This record gives sequence, C-alpha cells and structure tokens, in this order.
Amino acid sequence: MTSVPETRSPAFHVGKIPVYGDAILAPMDGFSDWPFRSLCRALGSAMSYTEFVRAQHIVEAYKHMAARLTYEQAERPMVFQIYGDDVDELLQAALRVQDKTPDIIDINMGCPARKVVHNGAGVGLMRTPLKIARIFHRLSAALDVPVTGKIRLGWETCRTYKLVARIIEENGGALIAIHGRTKEQGYSGMADWDAIAEVKAAVKIPVIGNGDVKVAADIDRMKAYTGCDAVMIGRAAIGNPWIFSRLDREQVSSEMVHNMVRQHLDRHMAFYGSRKGMILFRKHAMQYLKLQQLPRAVRTHIITREDPQEFLALLDGVFDQISLIPAAAR
Ligand SMILES: Cc1cc2nc3c(=O)[nH]c(=O)nc-3n(C[C@H](O)[C@H](O)[C@H](O)COP(=O)(O)O)c2cc1C
Repeated sequence: MTSVPETRSPAFHVGKIPVYGDAILAPMDGFSDWPFRSLCRALGSAMSYTEFVRAQHIVEAYKHMAARLTYEQAERPMVFQIYGDDVDELLQAALRVQDKTPDIIDINMGCPARKVVHNGAGVGLMRTPLKIARIFHRLSAALDVPVTGKIRLGWETCRTYKLVARIIEENGGALIAIHGRTKEQGYSGMADWDAIAEVKAAVKIPVIGNGDVKVAADIDRMKAYTGCDAVMIGRAAIGNPWIFSRLDREQVSSEMVHNMVRQHLDRHMAFYGSRKGMILFRKHAMQYLKLQQLPRAVRTHIITREDPQEFLALLDGVFDQISLIPAAAR
C-alpha cells in the first residue's frame, strides 16, 4: 500500500506526531498483527498499535520478536506496545526496538491475564504508581520517540486511573489510552465512560477512550460523552474492519465481505506461511461469515479446512449462492 498525502487537519498530536482520524484499532494479542492492522488502517483506523510484546523477550530473544514488530509504512503513525514490570528492562527493550523506527512506544498497563499481572506487569503496574512514574520519567528522557500508556480503571479496591493518568503526564508521557473497566471486570460488564471523561478532564495530553464501542455510532457517542480525542475499538472490529469507515456490519455488502476474506487470507498466508496462516485465519473467518446465514455446522466445516484452495472453493460457493438471493431477502 502507498501512503496518500493528508489534506485533513489532524485530530490530535502525540508529541509532534499528527494523527488524522479519531477511530483506532485497539492492540489485541493474536489479532492486531500486520495483516489485520494494515487492512484496518487502510479502511480508516487512524494509527496502528502492535500486539503487546514482553520486554524481557525483546531483551533476551530479539530476533524471535521481529514478526510481532513487522509493519508497513502506510500504517504510520506506528506504535510498538511493550510490557514488563522492571524499569531497566523496559528501558532496554524500548531502546532496542527503536531500531525498527516506530513513531511511538506504548507501555501496557491494562492486561489482566494472570501470567502478566502475577509479575506486576500489565494492570499489575496500576498498583505501583511510583514505578509508573519511574518508567515514564526514564523512558521519556532516553527515547527519541514519544512514550504513551494504555491503562484501565485499576483494580476494584484500587482505582488509580486518575492518579496514574496525572503521573504519566507529569513524567513525560505523550498520550493516554484508557479502557474503562477494572482488572476484575476483564472484558465484560459495562465500561465506565464517566471515568474516561474524568481522565480527559484531568490531563492536557490527548486521551483515547476505549470500551463498549460496538457500532459505528458509538464512536461519536463516546467522544461527545467523554470529550476524548479519539476512540479505540477492539472486538467490534473483528469481522467488521469497516467500522473504521463508519459502517456497521449490516451495511457491508456480501461482495465486500467476500473480497475482504480473500484479501485478509492472502495477507495471512504471506505473513505466516500457507498452513499456519490458514489455521490462524479461522478466528477471523468465523466472524466474517457470521452474518452470511450459514448453518453453524456448514460454517465450521468451511473454516476448519486446512487446504487454502479447498477453503476458497467453499467460500466462493457460499458467496455465489448469496448473490442469487435478491438483496432484500438476504
Ligand atoms: C483477544 C484480545 C487481546 C488483547 N490484547 C491486548 C494487547 O496486546 N494489548 C493491550 O493493550 N490490550 C489488549 N487487549 C485489550 C483491548 O485493547 C481493549 O482494551 C479491550 O478489548 C476493550 O476494547 P473493546 O471493548 O473495544 O474490545 C486485548 C483484548 C482482546 C479481546
């Protein structure tokens, strides 16, 4: 993909970096890889975040991390997200990944997974605000690129979001993305948009709101409710990358879905190799085919094919049949 010169004015800046657009694909382990990110970016996602990468792995096994940090120029502004609990290790990792010329380095302070939190990383950091101060102080002084943070509300008994937001800003952080749920909520329950508004009011650096953006109209609704500069979308983009073009899935034609599945699978296989790419594509195919009125057993049969040619033949068959149904009856 080639980049097109921007004629719009930026929605906000991260340090000196302009960001055009106000809807952004959320970092998602297992999903926000180059194939998916680049497609979402082309459809309007305003910047690209990698899946999170453990600082220790960068320091100890850098070459194995290369795939997670692969991106294309058209994705810029490109954010590398790292996580860890040790200030020196995070700094070493951040300095190391700078050689892949990201625009921004982001620190994950939201992951609630036991194996991450157990070591005090991810949302574990929100219990140690002084450590967050040290991380941002050291990284923002040492790096050539802006340092940003993605946080949650904190823990049910320790909702440190406002304190942490101020600490990030005071220690040189250039942007805060906040997922409006606690560690204990995980990914369920309502996201607290009032808390997002509180963070926006508490700091001067840009704030990205996240949580419960399910349909295109929610983007403007969250912005109006919280005053946030942009909105981050995670699960609602899986199977509907068109949400970044402000389209709900019902508004996307079968032909567009058909083309997207083929294009996305192509990228998956180019990136992961044919067999692994096909297998890893299942979780996307499942979501793309959800609205195609397929009985569950048929859908499962299609998406579990290991031979790409067999998968594509079945896929084309499904969409050929759909094209015979009058649009109003689909
Ligand atoms: C499968 C999955 C993987 C995720 N991986 C990451 C990650 O690597 N880094 C991160 O900051 N957040 C991660 N998240 C959290 C999302 O970025 C986002 O904050 C969360 O899903 C809420 O947004 P949503 O309601 O739009 O999905 C992940 C979420 C999901 C569902």
